[in-house]
Amino acid sequence: MIQLIRGFRDILPGESERWQAIEDTARAVLSDFGFREIRIPILEATELFTRSIGENTDIVEKEMYTFEDRKGDFVTLRPEATASIVRSYIQHKLYAGDPFHKLFTTGPMFRRERPQKGRYRQFYQISIESLGSESWIIDAQIIQIFYNILQELKLKNLIVQINSIGDSQCRPYYKKLLVSYFKSREQSLCVDCRRRLRENPLRVLDCKEEKCQRIVSQAPQLIDHLCESCHRHFKGVLEFLDEIELPYQLNPYLVRGLDYYTKTVFEIFGENATKTEGEEPSVGNALVAGGRYDNLIKLLGGEDTKATGAAMGMERVIAALKLKGIKSSKSATSPIFLAQLGNLAKRKSLKLLEDFRKAKIQVAESFGRDSLKAQLKMADRVEAQYALILGQQEALDGTIIIRDMKTGKQETVKLEKTVKEMQRRLKK
Ligand code: HAM
Repeated sequence: MIQLIRGFRDILPGESERWQAIEDTARAVLSDFGFREIRIPILEATELFTRSIGENTDIVEKEMYTFEDRKGDFVTLRPEATASIVRSYIQHKLYAGDPFHKLFTTGPMFRRERPQKGRYRQFYQISIESLGSESWIIDAQIIQIFYNILQELKLKNLIVQINSIGDSQCRPYYKKLLVSYFKSREQSLCVDCRRRLRENPLRVLDCKEEKCQRIVSQAPQLIDHLCESCHRHFKGVLEFLDEIELPYQLNPYLVRGLDYYTKTVFEIFGENATKTEGEEPSVGNALVAGGRYDNLIKLLGGEDTKATGAAMGMERVIAALKLKGIKSSKSATSPIFLAQLGNLAKRKSLKLLEDFRKAKIQVAESFGRDSLKAQLKMADRVEAQYALILGQQEALDGTIIIRDMKTGKQETVKLEKTVKEMQRRLKK
């Protein structure tokens, strides 16, 4: 028997309703904020990701599904959506006329990480990008949008962690400071961090090893070395969050694992998540993560255009909902169930179902089941208020039985009056 690939999952009926409910909620909030959907391919030229995410990141070094296609071109299953959205924005000159675009996309991403709780090799994101503005208001708004989505999903006590990682003005100087600080303690760092020190020193800041964290806790903080413009920007973001009373925590060690970020970076966690070392959080990883990326559009060949965005991990949000015992509001329910007995009744049922569909009334059925008992069981399962029973006699008489599922009370009506009668009953 051929099994699923490790780190990949099927989303089965029963579970998929929850996915739909989350997507519906996100789409409604995003539409309120004026975001429009963009659909981008799953496969892209490898260079798109090496250039944008960065050569010395975990994603590019270890996690991408990259292969040579039949013509010898290197292609990669997208590990994230931002780079593709930016490519599309440049390629189709979406900026012509109006550089400002609010876009979102949903779908699977691929990273060959070590499979563990909250980490899959195919996982789904809702990724939102606001292109064309350098205003700090937009950074805060992105946080606000995801905060709203998570709250509408009934996740409470969310933790927003936020930091500024500066820009090309202030970061190089800070990097120097940081490298010289870590160099003097290099022997006490873990093997990975010694390598990071040479390749990507900022990443040492979010190492999970206890001995590294001890050293990091005394390290110089970028927030104390921001240039005037980054400082003003960060202050603006925080003031907006204060204004809308959205609680946040400053985390000076939040640096993110992708190279394209500038200025604001943030992550949103569920209630039980902590980033304290030694304490394995129960939901664990970030539900949402993102930040500003002012250089990416230019880096990928576009005009100098500023942008900001974030992505929410579907599997992690679902894990958080399950942990809190929050049920999906969308389940496979139907107000009416149509049961039938015999061939004539089956045939007449098809016409009746079509009449209900035209009247926009949802009716469940189970033509695969013949026994009335089994069909009424299904009616219970979909939480139907009424079961319509079309038996052999009724089919001959041109009538139908309406059964109130709560009281068990039954009434026979003319078949052609069924839709009208049900409309009347459901309105009550
Ligand atoms: P990221 O932090 O790599 O950022 O991923 C964003 C979110 O995707 C995470 O917070 C998490 O919820 C989910 N996620 C990431 N990896 C996995 C995994 N292996 N299994 C399950 N869930 C995962 C980005 O991807 C950026 N593109 C976000 C962004 C958009 N920044 C600006 N615009």
